Amino acid sequence: MEELAIYGGTPIIQPGEVKNWPPVDKTDEELIIKALHVPQQSCSVYTKQLEEEFCEFNGNKFAYFTNCGGSALQMCIAGCGIGAGDQVIVTAYTWPSSASCIIHNMAVPVFVDIDPETFLIDPNKIEAAITPRTKAILVVHLHGLCCDMDPIWALAKKYNLKIIEDACQAHNAFYNGRKAGTLGDCAAFSFNQNKCLTAGEGGLFVTNDEEIFMRGRTLTDFSDMQPTKDTDEFPAYAFGHKFCNNEITAAYALAQLHKFPGYYKQLIANATTLDATLKKANIKGLKLPYEPANCKHNWYNYNLRVDFDAIGKGGLSNDEKSRFRHAICAALRAEGMGCVVWQHCILPEMTIFRSKNAYGKGYPWAVPGADDGVSYDLANFPEAIKYCYSHIAIVQILRAPNDTAMAAKVAQCIEKVFTNLDKIDADKILK
Ligand SMILES: Cc1ncc(COP(=O)(O)O)c(C=O)c1O
Repeated sequence: MEELAIYGGTPIIQPGEVKNWPPVDKTDEELIIKALHVPQQSCSVYTKQLEEEFCEFNGNKFAYFTNCGGSALQMCIAGCGIGAGDQVIVTAYTWPSSASCIIHNMAVPVFVDIDPETFLIDPNKIEAAITPRTKAILVVHLHGLCCDMDPIWALAKKYNLKIIEDACQAHNAFYNGRKAGTLGDCAAFSFNQNKCLTAGEGGLFVTNDEEIFMRGRTLTDFSDMQPTKDTDEFPAYAFGHKFCNNEITAAYALAQLHKFPGYYKQLIANATTLDATLKKANIKGLKLPYEPANCKHNWYNYNLRVDFDAIGKGGLSNDEKSRFRHAICAALRAEGMGCVVWQHCILPEMTIFRSKNAYGKGYPWAVPGADDGVSYDLANFPEAIKYCYSHIAIVQILRAPNDTAMAAKVAQCIEKVFTNLDKIDADKILK
């Protein structure tokens, strides 16, 4: 076997071979130049066209183009009428914005462990987390795989809860033939550069419910800032945020939306090639992602896991396992294959949740009753913790214009490193 590149061997993927995401061409350039010349530079022609076309593409009635996915999530929470003293259920393993959106509306997140196969909120553990204060379940379709919605819908019906979708990573992901962003009361998408549909930055707040839409909208454009009657003057007070985006970014997003079907097809072909090759290779110590039969992954993030038991390292501490995994990740990168450790800790481990203090003086947990029944005891989240120290995330290298030949090389990198795990010396690699 060829020497690992991390120890001086030849990398499988040479510098310059991997193409950048997203592809930018005349479609983007022409629309962006046009947007530069519209008289009103925000909430105007291209923003409206993007909102309309995305609604048509995704099957939503209402959409608002925001500056990021995190602000769209905040609009979802406000749109559902959630505020001080309320609780929202959310997965313990996700991007922090899935929980900060709750806190920014003065409500309290209640974390639930993940399913060990899908890495998504475990529907069997949700009911135990419901209290009289629970107002919603915020489902995160992480990595581009939809949550198991049937049991979640049943719980929402039983306890009269709203369902909010964090679809920030889930453009064109499907559950039982239905698209992410249409599986709950409202949803948020992100358009940051990592996403399968990007405009550099940006987000969309979408819903089919006009009341939720109008309530969510009150959070942006300074909310209360309306012109006083019969004049153009604004009153001195102005609550809320400014979450709107601008025409140039909207035009970029629109151009990318027009090209999305081609990009998506390529990404699926690349991930399918990688998945089939790795399944066939059946490598000891390597766990592959799982796609339930009723879901269609968008492969935003193809996740590997190290199976420590299979390689005789099950007895290591979590920190040692994490360090070994970091060393594998470094060895894969040395082969020319972009990959990262996505989250270094689960959300309940973050200082803000350890201290139950976001705004000072213990708020929002200090709101009377808000903290009732809320425990961030880490013993409640064993699967999330396990996933955290064992995963390796593959994101941009599988995107268009990289093709199946690149996916085959990614598979070679993984096979080379994972069949040489006995040579991975974390002390030497990480120093
Ligand atoms: C699951 C999830 N939710 C929310 C966000 C926030 O999106 P943005 O970066 O556009 O604010 C992200 C961003 O990566 C995300 O991955």
